Amino acid sequence: MTLQTPFYLIDKTALLRNCEKITRLRQSSGAKCLLALKCFATWAVFDLLAEHMDGTTSSSLNEVKLGRQKFGGETHAYSVAYGDHEIDEVVAHCDRIVFNSVNQLERFRSRAVGTKMGLRLNPQISYSAFDIADPARLHSRLGEWDPDRINAALPQISGLMFHCNCENNDFEAFCRILAAVEERFAHALSHIDWVSLGGGIHFTGEGYPLDALAERLKTFAARWAVQVYLEPGEAVITNTTTLEVTVLDTLHNGKNLAIVDASIEAHMLDLLTYRLAAKMVPNRGEHSYMVCGNSCLAGDIFGEFRFEHPLAVGDRLSFADAGGYTMVKKNWFNGVPMPSIAVRELDGQVRLVKSFGYDDYRDSLS
Ligand SMILES: Cc1ncc(COP(=O)(O)O)c(C=O)c1O
Repeated sequence: MTLQTPFYLIDKTALLRNCEKITRLRQSSGAKCLLALKCFATWAVFDLLAEHMDGTTSSSLNEVKLGRQKFGGETHAYSVAYGDHEIDEVVAHCDRIVFNSVNQLERFRSRAVGTKMGLRLNPQISYSAFDIADPARLHSRLGEWDPDRINAALPQISGLMFHCNCENNDFEAFCRILAAVEERFAHALSHIDWVSLGGGIHFTGEGYPLDALAERLKTFAARWAVQVYLEPGEAVITNTTTLEVTVLDTLHNGKNLAIVDASIEAHMLDLLTYRLAAKMVPNRGEHSYMVCGNSCLAGDIFGEFRFEHPLAVGDRLSFADAGGYTMVKKNWFNGVPMPSIAVRELDGQVRLVKSFGYDDYRDSLS
């Protein structure tokens, strides 16, 4: 079957490769791994992920419900701020809840009695290439840092959460951050039973010292007598998914331009937010093109890539590594066609799992 582009294509064989690393890390470190739904929430492949992960973590009521309903295992709740009208439903759907501030903990703890509660701490150090994504940026609202406020809250909580890594593929840098956390929050760490170290550790990447990470996590868990959790998003989905598109038009305006049937603003928003280029594999040949999206935004540009042949209308292109923070962020800007979602099963068969049409666009508005 030939699928109409655009569509995201999730390759389960590639996903399984990442999953096997996750399982190895869990088994050798004792840490539990929760899928961060903010990065990837395409539940058509949760069956495979659930075999290799302990559950999910969330950033909102909708995500916590999806985690409980579609993934199972342990369901953790976190939000930058919960509203009064949603907290009861959040608590009903989670096993543990992490509050972002002492204020939120104080406001809602009586409504979460019987659920394990944690507090997010902000160590004011981080690993992040982008200020906009840096949880430790100046005046950050993400977590508590004041020792007096934290110590006063300790009797109410059994866990802590730190999220201070962002696509960190440098094990030594991870160790430095963890050592700083241990030194700064020793008092709090010695009072609790579980610690989430958040996401952002690129441990499924090629050449990452997985065994050394496992050893470091094990030492941490033993030193503080805690259950360690990790919340990987990108590490789970990296290099598993492509965005398949077709060339709709070619132009020349000082450079060769090719317009495709997808948009970075609508379908790969992080490229715009972080001013990054998409990945095209292979990216070689004597013909260079700036590949552009089909929205009206002048800067809707996937990047400049090389090809063996001149591009022509109807050519199929494939952007690599398009699974993380894409499907969860897609939007209906310009009403451009929404990419379908397809899965390449372990036997190689491609299965269409979701398509979107005019009705979905219309019903997203009123
Ligand atoms: C609290 C928390 N946990 C987990 C993650 C997942 O991070 P990543 O997708 O980089 O692994 C994030 C990302 O922002 C986060 O804020």
